Amino acid sequence: MDKLNILIAASEVVPFAKSGGLADVAGALPKALRALGHDVRVVMPRYYIVDKEKYGLKPLEGSLGVPMGSMGEAWAGVFEGLLPGSDVPVYFIEHEGFFGRKGLYDEDGEGYGDNDNRFIFFSKAVMQLAKKLHFRPDVIHANDWHTAAIPVLLNTTYATDPDFKGTGTLLSIHNLQHQGKFYKGAMDVLGVGWEHFNADELEEYDGVNLLKGGIVHADAINAVSKKYAQEIRTPAFGWGLDPLINAKAYKLFGILNGVDYDEWSPAVDTLIPATFDSDDLSGKAICKATLQKRFNLPERSDLPLIGLVGRLAEQKGIGLLAAAVWNLMELDIQIVLLGAGEKWAEYFFSDVAAKYPDKFATYIGYQNDLAHQIEAGSDLFLMPSLFEPCGLNQIYSLRYGTVPIVRATGGLDDTIENYNSAQKSGTGFKFYDATPEALSGTVKWAVDTWYHDRAGFDQLRHNGMQKRFDWSEAAKGYEDLYRHIIGGRLSSSHQ
Ligand code: ADP
Ligand code: GLC
Repeated sequence: MDKLNILIAASEVVPFAKSGGLADVAGALPKALRALGHDVRVVMPRYYIVDKEKYGLKPLEGSLGVPMGSMGEAWAGVFEGLLPGSDVPVYFIEHEGFFGRKGLYDEDGEGYGDNDNRFIFFSKAVMQLAKKLHFRPDVIHANDWHTAAIPVLLNTTYATDPDFKGTGTLLSIHNLQHQGKFYKGAMDVLGVGWEHFNADELEEYDGVNLLKGGIVHADAINAVSKKYAQEIRTPAFGWGLDPLINAKAYKLFGILNGVDYDEWSPAVDTLIPATFDSDDLSGKAICKATLQKRFNLPERSDLPLIGLVGRLAEQKGIGLLAAAVWNLMELDIQIVLLGAGEKWAEYFFSDVAAKYPDKFATYIGYQNDLAHQIEAGSDLFLMPSLFEPCGLNQIYSLRYGTVPIVRATGGLDDTIENYNSAQKSGTGFKFYDATPEALSGTVKWAVDTWYHDRAGFDQLRHNGMQKRFDWSEAAKGYEDLYRHIIGGRLSSSHQ
């Protein structure tokens, strides 16, 4: 059995809809698996923002009946398109009531009150779609809590369905903090039977925990870096699920994400003012000057410009940065921050920008072009995350010659090697303690290196630009894992 049938279900996929790195992964991994010769299909919701015309989406004939337990039958429309630059089909589940809204998961900082129904609906629609298409998956690959119901459904509602005979499941954990915890009434909509509402499956503190159910029922689970796969087994990173994950450690794997270098490479990036590569950085100097101009910062090539791009969430270490920032403002540096999220942080960092207009600039919002321009135009990139399952921006930064300053956690620790000034080795600057002092101390170290050890800094920049985190490598890891899952399924008692 060479070619595998793989069905990937994700709540966001680049370029159609994105709030974070999950979308980057769900848009890139399928293409890399396709390049290995597999029949890969992707399913996501048809949110209001998914532009049917722009992507040439075509409706599939007929609608999809989705049994919603106590809510009765719901009907979904299905649209079909392709992942750009590939022949990988993407199916969009359309339902005006659930997905015809402005946001993916929330609006104006408020999570939708019916996210349980929305994503239970989506998970069931994925199963029904496979049947409608007569696509018999060898593996269904679910991602995070939004699609964690799929392994549960496969082992219950669909356990004896001949269309899923031999189908295995993988659940990728991109972020354990978000588990899909809901009022227990969600069991009636999930419709798998109350016998599964117990502490060893879906129940937690008298509510439903979808991710927990997925972890229990999936044939394998994987975290998006090796380090994070270790960390989630400890109370500090387990968000209460560490005992369960430890009990399931026999089926826990860690596969580091890759990067789509067609999209994130300064040599081919169409969103930046000038392209460049490691043998000629003159384009990078143009990117830096353009970025400074864009933010009304003094156009100075002599000082280090530090970039930050990300969700303004506690996870990203914004509390540490807020505590350290006044200290940092004493340095001869500039900081450009792009992000949106927690309101206090949006106000706080805008306030810092107002106080230090020559040193600190912000764009509060989500802007893909600007994310590329900050990667290209900065000298250093700061990611002081409290936890980071993988993290993509630090890997993009390496390729753009933008030296990362990171806290040594999860994927940040796995992808960045600390600077060794004696050997001029490493790819970035790391700190360990989650304290404002450690953060500002390490930024000062990086800034000192810029001012007083320029050869070392240039070497770091060069080292990073040579590194590659190709999806082709990561996809082989997934292929092995899928085969492992299928092997286990075939030899187990399941069907
Ligand atoms: P996470 O998934 O936890 O948000 P990652 O580092 O894996 O973190 O991925 C974040 C992705 O989202 C990157 O591609 C980054 O460029 C993008 N991103 C995050 N915030 C913004 C923003 N405000 N504007 C544009 N892109 C953003
Ligand atoms: C999550 C994590 C991030 C990871 C991304 C893609 O959102 O927070 O670290 O890179 O998923 O796997």
